[in-house]
Amino acid sequence: MKKLENEAKRVLLKNWKDGFSVPCANLYPFQWKWDSGFIAIGFAHFDMDKAEKEIATLLAAQWDNGFIPHIVFHTESDTYFPGPDFHQSELHPQSSKTYKSTGMTQPPVTGFVLEEMYNISTNKTATLAYINSMIDKVYHNHTYFYENRDPNNEGLVYIYHNWESGTDNSPIWDDIFATMNPPHYEFKRRDTTHVDASERPTNREYDHYLHIINIAKEHNYSDEKIAELSPFLVQDPLFNTMLIKSNEALINLYKLIGGNVDKIAQLTQWNTKAVHSMNTKLYDKDLKVYVHYDLRNEKPIPFITSSSFSPIFANIATTPEQVKGLVDVMLDKFGGEDMYLCASFDPTNELFNPKKYWRGPVWVNLNWMLYRGLRKYGYNEVADRVKNDTLEIVEKSGFYEYFDARKSVHLTDKAGYGGGDFSWTAALLIDLLQNKI
Ligand code: SER
Repeated sequence: MKKLENEAKRVLLKNWKDGFSVPCANLYPFQWKWDSGFIAIGFAHFDMDKAEKEIATLLAAQWDNGFIPHIVFHTESDTYFPGPDFHQSELHPQSSKTYKSTGMTQPPVTGFVLEEMYNISTNKTATLAYINSMIDKVYHNHTYFYENRDPNNEGLVYIYHNWESGTDNSPIWDDIFATMNPPHYEFKRRDTTHVDASERPTNREYDHYLHIINIAKEHNYSDEKIAELSPFLVQDPLFNTMLIKSNEALINLYKLIGGNVDKIAQLTQWNTKAVHSMNTKLYDKDLKVYVHYDLRNEKPIPFITSSSFSPIFANIATTPEQVKGLVDVMLDKFGGEDMYLCASFDPTNELFNPKKYWRGPVWVNLNWMLYRGLRKYGYNEVADRVKNDTLEIVEKSGFYEYFDARKSVHLTDKAGYGGGDFSWTAALLIDLLQNKI
């Protein structure tokens, strides 16, 4: 395992670009928001300075309204589409004047990442001083979410693009895309020059992705207009879980820093409402898991995905029966003998595709969150299975972006897909190996 850990460190150092990390070479040549967070957790174990810079660089690209973009285009690169010229973040009057970025965000990892960094740190005083210099920016980001993305005041924020979810082409979005009929755009994909097209979204799916951005751009990325007009408007249990977890982290960190009573009260209020709505609106009593809600078309999306189990990562599930229900569904549908935990989409559903990005493969960041949640609720055996499965797939197949969930495939074929030498796979493997949680 020491060899694997050293390899993981090599991957992180290779993808470090003097102030931030790329998720992997060529396929993702800029800084991505949720990648950055997971990467900082990995660095915190052996190079706290880089971990701190990673987050500081991301937060330096924050907009005046508190928004943090999903990609920050620090450098020029022609290996990625769509780049800064397509996104045109400058259309928004409060966008960063220093950095070009996208006009959409990604899951709010930054709060809980700061707390992880504090927990890992061997120099708590120095790390807390660093956190003190960053934490208000994260708080501002959460204020942005609750003030601009919760039109019904439910404590649940929406995402307006599938790229904001992080789970880009999950079957969850299929019915929403079926309500749209975007033009056939002329564009040159770059991702499929780096990675086999069978592992990536289709061109027609990209038409939908670009179309939503074009609608937002027509209105200069105005939040009110997006809420009114975007054909994609979803309350995502994974996104909201990470926001709740980050709220909890900010409460804990503000308590360590001292003072900040009003902010702690506000964070507590957000979380009380959010947890209630997660358990009423996003919890499906029949399926016994959390599901997505299509806010535009006002209906739940009753698919089971790895996101459906993610609320165990934060203190959201309120009764032992609820947690047992989640774990039972995970084992029953995703945990067959030939399966590594945890596929990103229900393997018993006909839409499951074991190779295609978020339509089935195992992702290490989701496994890391599920592992933490299972441990917290005392499901140690299942937690260990998730951890050992994660270590085994990386050891067998390498530091890939995502992996086939079918064990048999790992014996005979290439079973790691997407980008190679992928930063968060390496970072979270280091955490799984080092952190005695
Ligand atoms: N994951 C997206 C891509 O594939 C962007 O966030 O390009």
